[in-house]
Amino acid sequence: MAYKRIAVVPGDGIGIDVTAEAVKVMEACGEATGRKLELVQYDYGAEKFLKTGISIPPGGYDDLRSYDAIFMGAFGDPRIPDMRHAKDILLGTRFVLDLYVNYRPVRLYDEKLCPLKGVKAGEIDIAIFRENTEGLYVGMGGIFKKDTPDEIAIQEDVNTRKGVQRIIEYAFQFAVENGRKKVCMSDKSNVLTYGHDLWQRVFQEVGAKYPQIEKSHMYVDALSMKLIKDPRHFDVIVTCNMFGDIVTDIGAQIQGGLGMAASANIHPGKASMFEPVHGSAPKYAGTDTANPFGAILTAQLMFQHLQMDEEAQLIDDAVLTAIKQDQTTHDIGGKLGTRAVGDFLSRTIRVRG
Ligand code: NAD
Ligand code: IPM
Ligand code: MN
Repeated sequence: MAYKRIAVVPGDGIGIDVTAEAVKVMEACGEATGRKLELVQYDYGAEKFLKTGISIPPGGYDDLRSYDAIFMGAFGDPRIPDMRHAKDILLGTRFVLDLYVNYRPVRLYDEKLCPLKGVKAGEIDIAIFRENTEGLYVGMGGIFKKDTPDEIAIQEDVNTRKGVQRIIEYAFQFAVENGRKKVCMSDKSNVLTYGHDLWQRVFQEVGAKYPQIEKSHMYVDALSMKLIKDPRHFDVIVTCNMFGDIVTDIGAQIQGGLGMAASANIHPGKASMFEPVHGSAPKYAGTDTANPFGAILTAQLMFQHLQMDEEAQLIDDAVLTAIKQDQTTHDIGGKLGTRAVGDFLSRTIRVRG
């Protein structure tokens, strides 16, 4: 019997390319440690949606939550400009499975990957926690008098006490359990005087339970600036859904680009979903050029979550080796294609395991 069962949804564009490499690496880890995974592939994505009108079939979310974890690639296709299918597959999975924690680590593996001057490997090690189930993402609102000069478009920003509290709690708890010293909450409470006033109050209340952790607050505009000016300053960051989306693209860039960034969508104790931060980059789809590290480091987050520490360590070591030896794709200075990077990593893991 397989040690763990994983649902794999490659999705669209380069999501398909990078997921293939992540799967190779997961299989290599299974061989190295003797803990074999059962990987079940799903064809949810733009192609299926265009052919059948189905994004996620009836019962699809219950099926996904029956696995130990879900691994996704990326979604987005120029033929579906409103991303209808991704709303169901990606945001739907986050919402329906109530995956309220979006954990996006920002870690610099090697100074040659950082676009900032004088920043050394290890000096950037930030854990960003993005609220993942509410805010501007809930799809509440509407359009009135569409396509007239009097048109009104309203998009509601939903912040619940329960939602804000649980993500802030999680960030503090993570800090305590992982030897982190500081938690910075980022909002725009100087303008969003209702929604983000709630964030301010809840941060104070929850923070009071963690006297050992240094607490700070930054408006999101200032935080974005500071991430570029002095990323060493940050330890743990917690923020709302929309700001978390934007700030983690900045985070991705200072660790080497979107091709490097990993992400976990978690509900503690329930089936969680893992996907790289980047999108489907349609221009590069099928060209064997996408950097698979973001997806592979996402597999590492999945292993950590499943308490498969040996496998997580194997991936970490292999990625570091590949970077040191420039066995990487062009975006981070190497000469290899997507598949060759996946092959290098799986070989390295098999030899070490
Ligand atoms: P994107 O992340 O797909 O690509 C932006 C740019 O980042 C690319 O042009 C490329 O230069 C670089 N990049 C991204 N991933 C890379 C990788 N693995 N290796 C090397 N370079 C990489 O963002 P976009 O162009 O704004 O969006 C394209 C589509 O993806 C849209 O439909 C968007 O809605 C969707 N999207 C999906 C997700 C997701 O599924 N999680 C995330 C972001 C965007
Ligand atoms: C991400 C993406 C998604 C988001 C989009 C594709 C809906 O940008 O995962 O960062 O905004 O959450
Ligand atoms: Mn994003």
